Amino acid sequence: MKLRAAAAWLSFAALVACAGPSDGAHDNASLDAGHAPDDPPVNRADAAPPTASEYPFELPFGFPKPYVPAANPLTAEKVELGRHLFYDVRLSANETQSCGSCHQQALAFTDGRPVSVGSTGQMHRRNAMSLTNVAYAATLTWPNPVLTDLEPQSGVPLFGIDPVIELGLKGHEEEALDRLRADTRYQTLFAAAFPGQGDPFDMVNVQRAIASFERTLVSGTSRFDRYQYLSDKNALTVEEKRGLELFGSEALECFHCHGGFNFTDAVVYKGLPLGDLNFHNTGLYNVDGKGAFPADNVGLLEFTAKPSDMGRFKAPTLRNIEKTAPYMHDGSIATLEEVIEHYSAGGRTITSGPHAGIGSANPFKSSFISGFSLTAADKHAVVAFLKSLTDDAFLTNPKLANPWSANSDAGAPSGP
Ligand code: HEC
Ligand code: HEC
Repeated sequence: MKLRAAAAWLSFAALVACAGPSDGAHDNASLDAGHAPDDPPVNRADAAPPTASEYPFELPFGFPKPYVPAANPLTAEKVELGRHLFYDVRLSANETQSCGSCHQQALAFTDGRPVSVGSTGQMHRRNAMSLTNVAYAATLTWPNPVLTDLEPQSGVPLFGIDPVIELGLKGHEEEALDRLRADTRYQTLFAAAFPGQGDPFDMVNVQRAIASFERTLVSGTSRFDRYQYLSDKNALTVEEKRGLELFGSEALECFHCHGGFNFTDAVVYKGLPLGDLNFHNTGLYNVDGKGAFPADNVGLLEFTAKPSDMGRFKAPTLRNIEKTAPYMHDGSIATLEEVIEHYSAGGRTITSGPHAGIGSANPFKSSFISGFSLTAADKHAVVAFLKSLTDDAFLTNPKLANPWSANSDAGAPSGP
């Protein structure tokens, strides 16, 4: 089997990734290409001194500066307010759920369920996505090509009523804002985050603050990163190094869709045309023998009405993938071992039930999903490598944790 040098695809992917039209947001972008083995970790963000409260991003080595919309500059105060709101169940109509209920830090901001369950008990169609490095996501949610900014995205779980009620705030906005106003902690936090506004309590500011917090969910200090970027040659085991090599090989093709610093091709560059390349059909289903996915989850097709967009979804980041089971847009694959089986077969075969079909024969499947044969030891190595992307510091970082702890002065109920 022909293997490419892992570092080559990583550098290549990232350089392509960083070559998009510059809007000023990616001026620090570069990865690994020429860094000397003894270079110390660099905080790319501090090239220019931060203004008074500009958020002091401590970016991992090789990470470009995230895109931040001009209308919502990132400040430490907004991030702190956003963290409180992200974990506050008072932002659901029945005060039972917060963003953090479905996006739990220990699970890399997922919920461990095949599909999510909203505050009213209604089932979502899809699996809760990891918010790992969501600041770099080119598009948001599994199938949507036009939702690109975090500020409007939070409106979906906050106010969405059709087809699912997540937080169910529609029609209860004022009630919720009153609950926040009544909390002295929020009086301070809102005033600090939005200085000079008479009454800063409104939903636009809530969404700006939540988006600001989400932009700080940056993960890039896994053992893989220590090995790849900080020249710690012992950070990976021999088996994990073999897995990395396989992951970057033309035989497995993983890197085409999961390449670059964030292990996904769906990374943000303002100005890059959206569409074809960012969504892929991996042959998960073929329910009618003509390529159909189950009717409630047809992917990109739902937005474009283009028949060939059947079953195309965003390739998620693989960072912290060990923690985000079950997998795929509908949570239909339980383990990483089964994910490898799916790709190795060039698509999944389901033998019985309403979703029966031969996914490998899906006519809309990406040409990169062509199957491969690996020894059991090599399959194990790929899984071992994927697990080396777990970033424990990220999963336990107190700055990203629920601030409404039992001993906090405000004592608001927290998400589960
Ligand atoms: C009931 C569970 C649930 C709640 C509550 C919830 N989410 Fe989600 N989240 C999901 C699911 C499911 C998806 C995938 C949605 C889809 O594909 O349509 C998702 C997707 C996302 C994404 C897209 C990530 C990506 O990489 O594309 C973001 C961002 C996000 N949620 C943020 C939030 C925020 C902010 C809140 C609170 C305002 C929130 N979520 C509340 C379940 C939930
Ligand atoms: C043609 C692009 C493409 C290739 C090649 C590819 N993937 Fe994926 N990957 C995707 C897409 C798209 C999804 C989401 C599919 C869905 O939910 O329907 C995905 C999902 C995954 C998931 C689950 C992610 C999650 O959060 O649920 C894992 C793990 C994964 N891929 C690993 C791999 C590995 C390992 C390889 C190489 C053997 C590989 N991928 C090759 C596009 C690709």
